[in-house]
Amino acid sequence: MTNVDATGTSAAPRELQRPRAAGRQDWTAWPEYNAASSGYRGYWYPVSWSSHITEDPKSFMLGGEKLMLMRDGGTIYALHDRCPHRGVPLSEGDQQFPGTVSCPYHGWTFKLDTGLLAAVITDGPDSKICGKLSVKTYAVEERLGLTWVYLPIGDEPPTSIDEQLPRELVENSGIIGGRIQPRQGDWRFACENGFDEGHAKYLHRTSLWRLFKPMPTWNITRIIPEGRWIFRVQDEVYWEATFPGVGTWTSKRWWKKTPDESKVSNIGNTGAGTEINPVIAAQNFPGFASLAMPGILRIAYPNFVHYEFYVPVDDENHRYVGLMVNFVSGLGKAKFYAKYLGAIRWLFHGQFSGQDAWMVEVTDAPPEKLYRPDVSLTTWRNLAEEEYTAKLAAAAEFAPKPVVRAPRERRAPAQRPNGSVADTPDQ
Ligand code: FES
Ligand SMILES: [Fe+2]
Repeated sequence: MTNVDATGTSAAPRELQRPRAAGRQDWTAWPEYNAASSGYRGYWYPVSWSSHITEDPKSFMLGGEKLMLMRDGGTIYALHDRCPHRGVPLSEGDQQFPGTVSCPYHGWTFKLDTGLLAAVITDGPDSKICGKLSVKTYAVEERLGLTWVYLPIGDEPPTSIDEQLPRELVENSGIIGGRIQPRQGDWRFACENGFDEGHAKYLHRTSLWRLFKPMPTWNITRIIPEGRWIFRVQDEVYWEATFPGVGTWTSKRWWKKTPDESKVSNIGNTGAGTEINPVIAAQNFPGFASLAMPGILRIAYPNFVHYEFYVPVDDENHRYVGLMVNFVSGLGKAKFYAKYLGAIRWLFHGQFSGQDAWMVEVTDAPPEKLYRPDVSLTTWRNLAEEEYTAKLAAAAEFAPKPVVRAPRERRAPAQRPNGSVADTPDQ
């Protein structure tokens, strides 16, 4: 007969019961990470496909800030999406003069490059308010077919976007297939899910992407740092396991490819043996999954690399930017793009990635009670904490300095005609 406890759940047999650990109640061990629910400032983030930014202003939310993006003379500009007059979004307006955007309400007109109020159409050419205020502008770059915006910490100059991008994407050309999706959930859950060591083998076992390829049951994995990245390095891979008192579990099936159980691969996750694209091989990635600030995931497969950028929108939403990059030229580009449109887009960036989106949406932590594979999560949090603390210290140099005034000299007390002394009020 099954024992049922006070909560209505079945009690585990005595031999499986373990003392309960308290677990982690909050993330205060990583104070900057804990505070970064709407993202880290001081980084570049992709907000849209470049081709989607036109002369018509568009609105985006990034890190809890409203942005207006539009193209003028071929260049993309980003301004804070709020007219200082009465708070109407500038993205609702349009262009009346070259190099500017006009608010739709009263025609306040701002220069796109500086944000300065250049004209107020409904106040005439001599408007006294012109030139006296401006809206915030943001640095913009176009890379990999995407529009990137720098979200500053304070007044610091933007960092180099090429130093933030994965180096192999800056140094090599290829063909990109990608997907941008608005998703619910904290960007940190999305990022942690991407690098999470334990989940793929179980959660994705039912995905169509893995229909003909089994997933391991469990691994022995190390996380190692290399430069600004951390890598998951697989030391041992187990394709099936017998769990004492429970039974045997594997995702191997008769219709799936038989994995080469004699080898452990750190490229792709289906075993060794496949020929590797020379650009990917030249990177010498120590592990097939790697992660860098501010939330860039890289998964290296033999013939392409998959990247995920987790873009913070606000406290409860993020933007998923998934890119599949194949480092080929000529006809190889057309072949890969056809494969992307015909299969990868739907199977990988669709259903497979949709399983991740589902988990990110329903995750509710902390509190949490972590297990051995979660070293992937804690190493990431340590990396984030360390890098961001150093970044804040570097940005502090650009913070406005408090004005230091020389101490006032105390004036000699004024003499009254009768010879008494009166205090002199400060002026
Ligand atoms: S609210 Fe923008 S011009 Fe009045
Ligand atoms: Fe996943």
